[in-house]
Amino acid sequence: MHPIYNTKMNESIIDELSARVKALSAKTEQEIEDLRVRLLGKKGEITKLFEEFRTVPAEQKRLFGQRLNVLKNEALQQLNALRESLSAGDSAASGEDLTMPGDAMPLGSRHPISITREEILSIYKKFGYSVAEGPEIEDDWHVFGALNFPPEHPARDMQDTFFINNQTDNNILLRTHTSSIQVRTMEKGQLPIRVVCPGRVFRNEAISARAHCIFHQVEGLYIDKNVSFADLKQAVLLFAQEMFGPDTQIRLRPSYFPFTEPSAEVDVSCNICKGKGCNICKGTGWLEIMGCGMVDPNVLEANGIDSKVYSGFAFGMGVERIAMLKWQVKDLREYFENDVRFLQEFATVV
Ligand code: PHE
Repeated sequence: MHPIYNTKMNESIIDELSARVKALSAKTEQEIEDLRVRLLGKKGEITKLFEEFRTVPAEQKRLFGQRLNVLKNEALQQLNALRESLSAGDSAASGEDLTMPGDAMPLGSRHPISITREEILSIYKKFGYSVAEGPEIEDDWHVFGALNFPPEHPARDMQDTFFINNQTDNNILLRTHTSSIQVRTMEKGQLPIRVVCPGRVFRNEAISARAHCIFHQVEGLYIDKNVSFADLKQAVLLFAQEMFGPDTQIRLRPSYFPFTEPSAEVDVSCNICKGKGCNICKGTGWLEIMGCGMVDPNVLEANGIDSKVYSGFAFGMGVERIAMLKWQVKDLREYFENDVRFLQEFATVV
């Protein structure tokens, strides 16, 4: 040990302080600040040693100067380390018990619309269809014109369609069906075509338990040589049986769409009452699931496809409706409210 002349400043004081500094711990920001003040504040222990340094004899200044600087750095480092471990939630510094069991993280679940959409698509993928998507903001041609809607058709009315008026162009609108993707697919000119087109669609409707201004569709298009109505019927039947069970039956009711001729509405036998009649199927034993038909030759021609060589069928369904039938959801609005209790009901559906 070096001889010292000053009674206050000696090496063992510095050693002792250094050991204390290295063992410092704190649980809160305030505790760290208190430690800083105690050591390095105006009247802090280390600050005081620096003051006493002035009285150290010249031949010892070098030794004590070095030791004091080291001590001060140790204190600064330790305080920084405490701050860091506190903000990182370091349990060692805050004295947490690492052996405590953790809190279970609540798991999210997939939305029933996503589940249903994926299921519909995976069935058609198995049949050899590919998936095509397209823009939600469309023009009149892709939603109506190319699909044989006459200029005065009511769907073109503001009451049914959301138009986006931008002064120069008033034929920009939110698509009312995903048939617009089918037009975009036909435009590419690659035949044959076998696509399913999922997407969000928009209609200017009052929101109720059975209708919403936003919903989801999956539409499909099959174009090749010699495609017949029998092919359409078979495709619809196989889909219905994959979706609602192998005993499901279908029936086709004549209908009308500008882009298909002939057109039909597809019903499936009610899988709840097995066709006997219940309140879900309103006693009829049948539930409507989609619209379909043979692509109108006008549509083929409008999209550059020779209708004398090619024919095809199209179908379209609402994902919300399929999900309602599958899980007996009574109110369409539930899909949009994101009530966790509702969503959790689908947590076990894979
Ligand atoms: N596009 C129609 C609709 O949105 C559905 C449909 C598609 C009907 C294809 C027939 C053929 O209502």
